[in-house]
Amino acid sequence: MLPCQAAEFSLPPDHHYLNCAYMSPMPRRVERVGNRAIAAKRAPSAVTPADFFRHGELLRQAFADLIGAQGSAQVAIIPSASYGLATAAKNLPVRQGQRIVTLQEQFPSNVYTWTRLARENGASVLRVEPEAGPGRGARWNERILESIDTKTAIVALPHVHWADGTLFDLKAIGWRCREVGAALIIDGTQSVGALPLDVTEVQPDALICAGYKWLLGPYSIGLAWYGPRFDGGTPLEENWISRRDSEDFAGLVSYQEEYGPGASRYDVGERSNFILVPMLLEAIGLLNEWGPDAVQAYCRELAGPIVRAAEELGFGVEDEDARGSHLFGLRLPAGMEPGPLKEALSRRNVSVSIRGDAIRVSPNVYNSPDDAQALVEGLSVHSSTFA
Ligand SMILES: Cc1ncc(COP(=O)(O)O)c(C=O)c1O
Repeated sequence: MLPCQAAEFSLPPDHHYLNCAYMSPMPRRVERVGNRAIAAKRAPSAVTPADFFRHGELLRQAFADLIGAQGSAQVAIIPSASYGLATAAKNLPVRQGQRIVTLQEQFPSNVYTWTRLARENGASVLRVEPEAGPGRGARWNERILESIDTKTAIVALPHVHWADGTLFDLKAIGWRCREVGAALIIDGTQSVGALPLDVTEVQPDALICAGYKWLLGPYSIGLAWYGPRFDGGTPLEENWISRRDSEDFAGLVSYQEEYGPGASRYDVGERSNFILVPMLLEAIGLLNEWGPDAVQAYCRELAGPIVRAAEELGFGVEDEDARGSHLFGLRLPAGMEPGPLKEALSRRNVSVSIRGDAIRVSPNVYNSPDDAQALVEGLSVHSSTFA
């Protein structure tokens, strides 16, 4: 069992930060690397041409290791999830009358991309809805499988729902997609780093992650893995460094028709980002040391007492096998307003988010049982005043 990693972070000691789904705190190691990287720009002559490539290549490999990919060639460096999704949309053919399968209340970056693609091609977007009641998560998964058929061009989903943590069976969904020839595009922003996902097992067509949540990185950098369906595709932008032989700075105006290897053609311009790239590399290095399965197991220990207490107080929680332990929703008892509950928790320095009719709790390895206890006390005191 992974021990509590609070010492790796600089969170204020009297705060109970159970909100990694909003934004992760910065590990101390990542902060140190970032500060060094900022200072390095004082003397640009020390920045060599090799520095434009070195950390980026290490970053691709670190991400490949995290997601079980064979080699780093299929990894692209992106600035946001929406950018990685736009690349996927640009390279996936969609015909008139076909469907793109998404979920009800999916994160907007993974919705707008597809509504535009559908509109431009005479296709439609299906939003698969859950059905309230017992077994909601399992039934939602069944409904997703039922909705994928020969008219489906693309299935664009997360691993866990960003608002309430419902867990989706990507292996089964991947099978179904391959059966009907649909592309499976996964937004891993709210899971990769804290919940294991192996691309050789799920076999998605793309896995796209913003870096500032469960990857513990800074804002404005993320990573995407693109499978063979994207080999030889068209990037969103034409950048000098994405072309073959860009290492040869003296020869850059011998214009080059060919792109660099693998998915590097899908990198964002200025992908060498001398500050953010080493920071995200350090962050993913930490995750690879811990392992996402150990992070999930740690969160499961913390989530147990929270879920038991919340259920006793009348909150609704998804069944354990159909939700993440690093991200889960507590649906409010009938009549309880989310605003006053959030304020009551803030007064106790407990940070969670409100998403729809639920509070979203998202612990990580820096949290301790004290944080869980502070949340339970806040819920319980508020519930007694509410009753
Ligand atoms: C599921 C999910 N995807 C993506 C994002 C971020 O999207 P982008 O990087 O396009 O801003 C978020 C942010 O909350 C999210 O919850």
